[in-house]
Amino acid sequence: MTLVRMEKVSKAYRGVPAVREVDFDLKAGEIHALLGENGAGKSTLTKMLAGAVEPSSGRILLAGQEVRFASPSAALEAGVAMVYQETSLIPSLTVAQNIYLGSEKFLNRLRGTFISAQQFLQSLNFAVDPMALVETLGAAKRQMVEIARAVHHNARVLIFDEPTATLTPEEKRHFFALLRRLQARGVAIVFISHALEEALMIADRITILRDGEQVAHGPRSDFDRDRIIAAMVGRSLSGELYRKRTAESLRKPGRKILSVQDVSQGRMVRNTSFSVFEGQITGVFGLIGSGRTETFKIVAGITKRDFNRGGVVQLDDRPVRYLTPAEAVRDGIVYVTEDRKSEGFFETMGVAENLYCGQLAAPHHRRIFVSLAEMKALAAEWTKRLNVRAINDNARVVELSGGNQQKVVIGKGLVQRPRLVILDEPTRGVDVAAIAEIHKLINDLADAGLAVVMISSYLPEVLNLSDRILVCRQGRIVEELSPLEATEEKIMYAAVH
Ligand SMILES: Nc1ncnc2c1ncn2[C@@H]1O[C@H](COP(=O)(O)OP(=O)(O)OP(=O)(O)O)[C@@H](O)[C@H]1O
Ligand SMILES: [Mg+2]
Repeated sequence: MTLVRMEKVSKAYRGVPAVREVDFDLKAGEIHALLGENGAGKSTLTKMLAGAVEPSSGRILLAGQEVRFASPSAALEAGVAMVYQETSLIPSLTVAQNIYLGSEKFLNRLRGTFISAQQFLQSLNFAVDPMALVETLGAAKRQMVEIARAVHHNARVLIFDEPTATLTPEEKRHFFALLRRLQARGVAIVFISHALEEALMIADRITILRDGEQVAHGPRSDFDRDRIIAAMVGRSLSGELYRKRTAESLRKPGRKILSVQDVSQGRMVRNTSFSVFEGQITGVFGLIGSGRTETFKIVAGITKRDFNRGGVVQLDDRPVRYLTPAEAVRDGIVYVTEDRKSEGFFETMGVAENLYCGQLAAPHHRRIFVSLAEMKALAAEWTKRLNVRAINDNARVVELSGGNQQKVVIGKGLVQRPRLVILDEPTRGVDVAAIAEIHKLINDLADAGLAVVMISSYLPEVLNLSDRILVCRQGRIVEELSPLEATEEKIMYAAVH
């Protein structure tokens, strides 16, 4: 039964079309994958269905009735819930409060809220403490809370905008099992993802957008990876993305720039030791919670380590103890965050302003006054290098698509001209074509002699980009592998055993 029908729906922002006359339909009990490059219009299309964005033209029918939702809560009332790509939780409230937000009667009985939230989270197989404040949670747990909140509303239509980007393989399995259960209950599900394998595995039907238009749709059996990519980017990409590493293509280690010995911090980092070299890409793999982010936040002066419990961090054979990130930046160490929404940028500022803020932090920058010409030149250079696509030069970062926001975050780090750059999940939420662009950029950095650390939970990326692979488990680097001998299985084994 067709539950949702979107007819010739369009949305323009300041006159620039983001979605153009798209027809989209959704059946009860189906999982419908919505795919497309960064900026193709996936979020915009589904936000119109969820009442978060008002269509410029077109009709939306829910169970045969034309609807016009004035707000997300109006859509929720009608049974349409959406898990947004960028989190919409309230950080200062607990997990339980966020899940039941809007159901006031629950908020009055706090204890009852916690217990029922606990049971509910358990039924979803999500290991999240309902009493924890959302602001203390990492990206993965926040995502789980977000999913739980949407599912809790018993919606007829559920939209998931990149729900799996931050989940571990284990958590993904639980999530997909959850989708199957919802599907069996007759819920109509939209699944937006850049993980094409996941879409091919879970979806009954697939719709592909390109430049705001619907370019392909049909049952999953009509598609394979290559056909999806060809429809998404309008050309064939195969071969560009994954090339097997050979002995000749591995970069030799340059000077040792960083050495970490026996460093600890709280419960997340335990006596970890490793080195990083110039002119190389050091890939760091670890499951979420393995302490990989925390380890490198210590290196970059963002987290203070336990100084009294010993441990040494040396930069160029000189011991360092950073108390602030600014000190690390002055020494040429830059950390590019995995959590772009809360740490990555000033979202209401423009692309140029954000890049310029990065530049102001850089050690080579001596001037205090903002020069407009300089800012424009900087923005022009980096939007070109990173191929940032926005509707115009003055777009605020919040108006960019997810993948393009990611490029701005990377750019903001690179304008600081680091000697050691730590990229944490650099291609999360980025489409296949843009992944290739970011990978090229990372390779160029290492070729130019920088020490590059790339933290990633995406195994093909770790295998294909790294010159050496470090595996992190339980707060410690436990193994070093050469990409020549490493396989996905070997890396995974080291990460969990
Ligand atoms: N609030 C806004 N103001 C102006 N332009 C916007 C706004 N939101 C989105 N856009 C533009 O609309 C287009 C479609 O964006 P959308 O977020 O729907 O893409 P997407 O397919 O979800 O991409 P991604 O995979 O990167 O999340 C982009 O060009 C984007 O810059
Ligand atoms: Mg999006």
